[in-house]
Amino acid sequence: MDKKKLTIEFWEYASENELAENDQELLKRAKQITDTAYAPYSQFYVGAALRLKNGKIITGNNQENVAYPSGLCAERVAIYAAGAHYPEVPIEAMAITCKSKTFHVNEPLSPCGACRQAIAEYEMRYKTNIKIILAGETGKIRVVNSISDLLPFMFKAEELKKV
Ligand code: THU
Repeated sequence: MDKKKLTIEFWEYASENELAENDQELLKRAKQITDTAYAPYSQFYVGAALRLKNGKIITGNNQENVAYPSGLCAERVAIYAAGAHYPEVPIEAMAITCKSKTFHVNEPLSPCGACRQAIAEYEMRYKTNIKIILAGETGKIRVVNSISDLLPFMFKAEELKKV
């Protein structure tokens, strides 16, 4: 029996001003789109903005439903919209942020497991990594260069023996 360790890499920035200009813009777009999230049940408003390799930005936000599991997270709303409208264009980066009506978010958002798996699909689809920029309303910004740093041991197509 071997005990093994897995290391992930991430970067932390004290504020968004430290990010590269195009990533600041991406985060700004993610923040803007939190305003139109439909979150009457949780009052937790999430925004996601994707930058495609052609420079286009696609945004999405969480859409809740009275039958709770029928709702969808911001990350999947945005990434599936990108897949629908620009199926040939790889995704380069994704900014995700949130705000709440009931408390102040001072920590970077931590995406749910299902969204991590959905993002992983697009890294596999385009065979390219997606930089992920995570922010709260205020506080530090956390950045990973690939979903594999947020979802080690992810379920991959190889396991279906289809590729
Ligand atoms: N939510 C997201 O949109 N993304 C996440 O990564 C975590 C959670 C949404 C789902 C639901 O509308 C609300 O936040 C509370 O869970």
